Amino acid sequence: MIARGVVRPPGDKSISHRVLMLAALAHGKSEINGILTGDDVKSTARVLRQLGADVSPVRDTGVKVSGAMLRARGARLHCGNSGTTARLILGVLAGLRATATLTGDSSLRRRPMRRVTEPLRQMGAVIKEKGDGLPLTIRGGELRGLTYTSPVASAQVKSAILLAGLTGGVPVTIREPYRSRDHTERLFAHLGLGIHERDGAIRYQPSTASIPSFTISVPGDPSSAAFLVGAALLAQDGELTIENVGVNPTRIGFLIVLERMGAHVHRVNLRDQGGEPVADLIAMPASLTGTHVTADEIPTLVDEVPLLAVLASRARGETVFREVGELRVKESNRLELIAANLRAVGANAEVHGNDLHVEGTAQPPRGTIETAKDHRLTMAFAVLGTVAGAQVKLSERKSVAISYPGFFRDLRRCFG
Ligand code: S3P
Repeated sequence: MIARGVVRPPGDKSISHRVLMLAALAHGKSEINGILTGDDVKSTARVLRQLGADVSPVRDTGVKVSGAMLRARGARLHCGNSGTTARLILGVLAGLRATATLTGDSSLRRRPMRRVTEPLRQMGAVIKEKGDGLPLTIRGGELRGLTYTSPVASAQVKSAILLAGLTGGVPVTIREPYRSRDHTERLFAHLGLGIHERDGAIRYQPSTASIPSFTISVPGDPSSAAFLVGAALLAQDGELTIENVGVNPTRIGFLIVLERMGAHVHRVNLRDQGGEPVADLIAMPASLTGTHVTADEIPTLVDEVPLLAVLASRARGETVFREVGELRVKESNRLELIAANLRAVGANAEVHGNDLHVEGTAQPPRGTIETAKDHRLTMAFAVLGTVAGAQVKLSERKSVAISYPGFFRDLRRCFG
């Protein structure tokens, strides 16, 4: 394949959820441009409408939101496939006089929620759950402040607590083992909500009575751009420009790792967009060498492990991903499925404890991939299918609609 042209990835999924929620809580009308139109973001929009916010259809042309006093009395909120919707909305609801039952599709119902319900309960929310997952019922209301050390480096846990502090009007302090993505903190700062960081502790101190409405442009999603970068690295020739990509340091661990593996991805036109750094990326073919990805790097590339593992299978030597146990509780058991699918196409990959080992091969990948309807597995193995001589059959392709509805169109256009 030859890499060519200029492409724009869809809006950042993490930021899209957060701006929708903050706009729904804000006083007045907000306008969001560049929002992701994927299914997960539509789940957040739907849930916010059920809670009383006026949210226009989620389209490429943008979204308009009229904030409201969100409320729910016995609402049943279906969060689809979206862990971010479920966990962050729990935080929002904790501080409101609201009762709601949250549920989701079969994948989401298997995902752990106690990591979020535990601190919210400590703040005073009343939560009824059967096991460690959905469905569950939450009754929010009068909260007390919280100082919390999270056992997992999870932006969803951190954000749920910050949002509970915001809607409950109470101070919160959070520490995490490694720094996870900081979009919520950046948005709070952008909107003038009292957020500070000291010695690695994130602190929210209620400062204003109401959240101001806003107009914002969501940067392109580095996690979606990563697949295009990966395909450009595996191409035989050419160069691809990927415009308007968020380059927040808590998100671009994959670029650091790829550079260590021998890739050159140029970042140009660095600028600020709503408190987030944004750049254009230029990626070209490279010959890759295996590397060790350390535990502290994982939160900065947690969604890129499927892609990095696929690229590692085309590198010289072994790549080891340390402490990637969290991948077992993503949209699928990504850890086992990455290894099993790599083996299914002739590469050598194994899970030892919480570590993933991938041995590179020069043989063209051939075989069938079980995507488990997990969007990131589907896109990672589609990228592997662009290798010369590859015969990679995917069990389905529709799951890309979760985070990158135009993925196959862009892949064809840039690597046709
Ligand atoms: C996200 C945080 C990460 C990531 C997910 C989106 C977010 O999950 O994997 O795709 O928007 O906060 P964790 O918080 O569980 O690590």
